[in-house]
Amino acid sequence: MHSLSYNKTKISIGDLAVSQFDALLQSARYKDVKKVIITDENVFDLWMEYFITTYEGLAEAEIIQLPAGEDNKVLEICAHIWNALSEYEINRNDLIINIGGGVITDMGGFIAGTYKRGLNFINIPTTLLSQVDASMGGKTGIDLGAHKNQIGLFNDPEYVFIDPHLLSTLAQPEKLSGFAEMLKHGLISSRKHWDDLKRISLDSLPTNFDELILQSVSIKKEIVLKDPMEANLRKLLNFGHTVGHAIEGFYLSLNTPIPHGFAIAWGMLAEAHLSLQKNLLSQVEFDEINTFIRGVYAPLHINQEHFAMLLQLMKNDKKNRDGNINFTLLKRIGEGLIDCGVTDNELNEALLVTLNSPV
Ligand SMILES: NC(=O)c1ccc[n+]([C@@H]2O[C@H](COP(=O)([O-])OP(=O)(O)OC[C@H]3O[C@@H](n4cnc5c(N)ncnc54)[C@H](O)[C@@H]3O)[C@@H](O)[C@H]2O)c1
Repeated sequence: MHSLSYNKTKISIGDLAVSQFDALLQSARYKDVKKVIITDENVFDLWMEYFITTYEGLAEAEIIQLPAGEDNKVLEICAHIWNALSEYEINRNDLIINIGGGVITDMGGFIAGTYKRGLNFINIPTTLLSQVDASMGGKTGIDLGAHKNQIGLFNDPEYVFIDPHLLSTLAQPEKLSGFAEMLKHGLISSRKHWDDLKRISLDSLPTNFDELILQSVSIKKEIVLKDPMEANLRKLLNFGHTVGHAIEGFYLSLNTPIPHGFAIAWGMLAEAHLSLQKNLLSQVEFDEINTFIRGVYAPLHINQEHFAMLLQLMKNDKKNRDGNINFTLLKRIGEGLIDCGVTDNELNEALLVTLNSPV
């Protein structure tokens, strides 16, 4: 079992059954409070019986089960959850437990931060993406139309319990999706992490996977600790996300959402190319990233005629300042550089080289 913490959040990585989870629920602090589990339909079907029958502290929990998928990370679903909390007569000292992927931890954290001006919450992330990224760091929120995470707030969970066993039911594309955020952590901050990740296969998770999750979470934690509100250093974590969120928003607007990490993987490739164009990243390292990402992630069906919409989505990115799109680029594998200005022409060239696929 590995433990780490940042701000008020305590994170444990390892088997949930031998963690402090149940003891916490039955501690003096939480024993007598109401507990509400927020989850989605898939996680409910696969795992809820396990949770309810294994952890005594959950025996009387209310369960709010939501439809699965990014297109449900929206205000209408929040209204449904707020109403359910009112029906259950939930108060500020009660506890929300988010059990699910990044959609659930993002939206559940937002709900916990807004309902009755805020109550405590715990995240139990069940996708790789939420284990290595979405469940910690304090960013919570929902989408607004094609604009990702447009409404939200910084709100740290009390605890995050990361149990890699929960990934045993995860489909391969979802594993690849989370893997993209791990790759990002390597690219912006640790050549070693990138090299370690390049060596593994996700077909069956390697026995040392806990260690790799720990490496990834530790990189994010160090960054968030130094800059929780994204004034500067935290922008490193946005590598791949300016183009990536536009790709994700583009597919959302077509009602054909793709896994977040696929958009980010291709976003990272486009932004690695921008880094090359800016003479920050060497050709050799760009080639290494290019070969690896193309080898792992199936091509997107985006072509030149979609670039105007991608650009428009990027121009509305909430990370922009003074009308300029703000990029995090790479100086080399293992070192990112924040606040890089890029012209529309440079961006078009990068999209053309990395994303344009023949119709
Ligand atoms: N807050 C942050 O810092 C942060 C960081 C990265 C991503 N995100 C957000 O995370 C979201 C994406 O998260 P995600 O990829 O986990 O999506 P998700 O929550 O939609 O989960 C993906 C799919 O996996 C299913 N699933 C979940 N756990 C499972 C399990 N154990 N076995 C089988 N199926 C399971 C879900 O039902 C869903 O169908 C996006 O909205 C993104 O914006 C947030």
